[in-house]
Amino acid sequence: MDFFKIVAPVYDTAMKITGHNKTLAELVEHINLQPGQSLLDLGGGTGQILEELPGDMGLEVIIADPSEAMLSRARDRLVKLDNDARDSSEPGLEAELVEATGDALPLADNSFDHVTIADALHHFNNIEETFVEIKRVLKPGGQLHIMEFDPSTFFTKFIATAEGLAGEPANFYKPELLGAMLEKVGFGYNYRYITGSIYILTAE
Ligand SMILES: C[S@@+](CC[C@H](N)C(=O)[O-])C[C@H]1O[C@@H](n2cnc3c(N)ncnc32)[C@H](O)[C@@H]1O
Repeated sequence: MDFFKIVAPVYDTAMKITGHNKTLAELVEHINLQPGQSLLDLGGGTGQILEELPGDMGLEVIIADPSEAMLSRARDRLVKLDNDARDSSEPGLEAELVEATGDALPLADNSFDHVTIADALHHFNNIEETFVEIKRVLKPGGQLHIMEFDPSTFFTKFIATAEGLAGEPANFYKPELLGAMLEKVGFGYNYRYITGSIYILTAE
């Protein structure tokens, strides 16, 4: 079953109900972006993070995701954001969409200041290979920011069961375990909880 082909048409509406935009806004604030920086949003889906990124900082943004159905929504979102910016004479946000999984990124070495993975890592296969790829595409001193659900909460257990039944990997990790996996490929890390069940882990 192609889970995200089924989910794509209702994804943005469902996420609106859960207040996902607020956690994405918190992630963007956490990153502390500087003018002209480059950001890869891996597992970026319908491109919801684009709504939270500043349009006046000259950022270079790439949304990478293996689901054509999700990326098609991201494409529509980019057109809308572009039109909105033109109507308000704002500079607007430039972004590119790339169809890829995290373990095989068709992107150059040392090209990003930041990589974000928001509410997506638990859907990935080949997580260790993905971390190796992220290390390759990050610039020296670049940072990876992962926003994920703690597996020990009732809410996450419910989501994990539902997604598991739908055939998804549903690999939810405690931040310490994720951190240990990142250390194996040469990252250091720290993390903080932004709600009772959601944390942001930053690796460098
Ligand atoms: C729940 S959505 C999250 C989308 C977006 N990050 C957001 O916050 O709205 C998870 C996304 O991960 C993508 N995904 C699944 N496996 C992946 C992989 N191996 N590499 C990159 N993205 C993947 C899916 O296609 C889907 O769009």
